Amino acid sequence: MSKNVTHAFVEKRVGWLAVLMTIAISIGGLVEITPLVFQKQTNEPVVGLKPYTALEMEGRDIYIREGCSNCHSQMIRPFRSETERYGHYSLAGEHVWERPFLWGSKRTGPDLARVGGRYSDEWHYVHLINPRDVVPESNMPAFPWLAENTLDGELTAKKLEVFRSFGVPYTDEDIAGAKAAVEGKTEMEALIAYLQVLGTGLTQAE
Ligand code: HEC
Repeated sequence: MSKNVTHAFVEKRVGWLAVLMTIAISIGGLVEITPLVFQKQTNEPVVGLKPYTALEMEGRDIYIREGCSNCHSQMIRPFRSETERYGHYSLAGEHVWERPFLWGSKRTGPDLARVGGRYSDEWHYVHLINPRDVVPESNMPAFPWLAENTLDGELTAKKLEVFRSFGVPYTDEDIAGAKAAVEGKTEMEALIAYLQVLGTGLTQAE
């Protein structure tokens, strides 16, 4: 750097300041980000992780459409208060096939990262039709239309194909059978199938 570029020089010239700040921050960013890209632990699926079935995939889209992640996170942090309540903290390897991530940041309701298997399908059904029927003090909205709307499966195969292009190991049979696997099922069935698989990838591996 030239002799003229002293501290005082930089502080008085906003253009220089911006450029040099950007360089300094980029170096800091790269030092933190680059190792993550190459760390297997963060970009390899955990052992036993299964891709979402066609029905679970549709359920996930309904979860997104209904804005469930505005009130529910899917990210258990490695603190005792969280692991005691929700189970093993979330691992990056459980989410490598997620596009987009549904980690969320708002917990009006409980974290759902490991809700799979915690309740019966019937419980979820009643709860989604009217949460107050099973949790009297609940302020979660009711989603009764999910039991009436049915899926036509027109786009399901396309969705799996797109995920395959991201590296999710769907087979040709998975894609060929996707429409038939969801057609005529209710949105409720799809959403419950999705909820029941959340967080189970890790427990299956243990
Ligand atoms: C306005 C905020 C809000 C929205 C939106 C919302 N929830 Fe909830 N949810 C809650 C609250 C509060 C609770 C805790 C009380 C209860 O169990 O009803 C809860 C509880 C739950 C539980 C039980 C979790 C447990 O461990 O006991 C499930 C499952 C659930 N919600 C799923 C969903 C799904 C699926 C959607 C989207 C279709 C959704 N929620 C949308 C607020 C919300």
